[in-house]
Amino acid sequence: MIRVWVTGGAGFIGSHLVRYLLETQPSLEIHTVDALTYAGNLHNLSDVLDHPRHKFHRIDIADRESIEPLWSQTKPKVIFHLAAESHVDRSILSPLDFVHTNIVGTATLLEVARRHWNGCSDVLFYQVSTDEVYGSLEGEEYFTEQSPYHPRSPYAASKAAADHLVRAYGHTYGIPYLISNCGNNYGPYQFPEKLIPLVITHLMERKPIPVYGNGLNVRDWIHVLDHVRAIALLAERGKRGRTYLIGAKNPRPNLEVVKLLCTLYDEMTGSRGSEALIRFVKDRPGHDFRYAIQPSTHLFELGWRPQVPFEEGLRQTIQWYLTHKEWLEAVRSGEYQRYYQLQYGDRF
Ligand code: NAD
Ligand code: DAU
Repeated sequence: MIRVWVTGGAGFIGSHLVRYLLETQPSLEIHTVDALTYAGNLHNLSDVLDHPRHKFHRIDIADRESIEPLWSQTKPKVIFHLAAESHVDRSILSPLDFVHTNIVGTATLLEVARRHWNGCSDVLFYQVSTDEVYGSLEGEEYFTEQSPYHPRSPYAASKAAADHLVRAYGHTYGIPYLISNCGNNYGPYQFPEKLIPLVITHLMERKPIPVYGNGLNVRDWIHVLDHVRAIALLAERGKRGRTYLIGAKNPRPNLEVVKLLCTLYDEMTGSRGSEALIRFVKDRPGHDFRYAIQPSTHLFELGWRPQVPFEEGLRQTIQWYLTHKEWLEAVRSGEYQRYYQLQYGDRF
């Protein structure tokens, strides 16, 4: 058995990655390392918690005292590093949480990796990162692997710092690494603070839908399974020490996405006039205007293609939320209500 870690494996993308690796790679034993913050949920892993090749460890990645013994015990070959504070709006409210997990947490993992690595060339530190490290585009251009880092939110700055640390450890100590930067993911199990699940849940509850500013900001959307398939492929065949951009070439203004969700929701449920729920609200401070990704050519050469067309993916996602009301209730209890009030209380 080859042991691998998935940090943040109880989160949105991480839980899909854990499931995908268990399904497709029978030689892997997966160790999910996750602190179970508000965003991490064992409900996301309920179907694989008892899987014989999956073990769950509730650990804060910044807690070296806990990370180090687990490393000695499991000797992982690949660290899929996804654990993070991931929501931009929360990074504006409490930046230090982002410094703790995204910077100190990543540095802690790298330190432990450095101590235990022993020069093996078949080890991999896989840093899952974001296109937000490149800042904001103004015209019709795309981010490429050559784009300079220009992070502009506390979240983006913390992810950029983490990427730099990974490269520095690779360069200085020789730890084999790979970084991939991806755009906006959507799909089942996404925490309903993010735009698409937030809109779907508000449609379900017939609540006003908050669109920041004028709704013209552009995000580049990709289905979470297309992202996860790219990560798994790159871990196996991607070049070490390289950066890959993952994207489905699907940049769209927020308002277009919100209106499309309203139309699909009405078609699927027989509701009417959902667009009337849209409200333009106070903008996000420092709101980046446009993200758009030119996916790495080498990713296509390896045979990866995005497989989920946007409309179809949105339909499946709406259907998933409609049929997982218990999941929604569980993740939106307590802390979510407090956050929602803080974030949106004076916006409507
Ligand atoms: P998420 O917020 O859904 O999940 C994050 C997970 O990390 C949770 O399970 C949480 O419990 C865990 N976690 C947080 N702090 C931790 C700590 N200190 N120790 C251990 N675990 C901790 O995030 P996501 O959307 O699944 O994103 C996963 C990764 O992918 C992040 O690194 C994010 O920056 C990156 N990413 C996300 C997107 C996106 O659109 N969601 C796009 C590109 C890159
Ligand atoms: O680009 C990749 C990034 O995408 C990831 O690295 C982040 O982890 C992920 O959270 C996401 O960041 P965004 O800020 O782009 O995602 P979010 O869903 O919060 O917002 C998408 C767009 O919608 C953004 O322009 C802000 C806008 N928005 C968001 C919310 C929550 C609204 O108009 N209204 C809202 O209520």
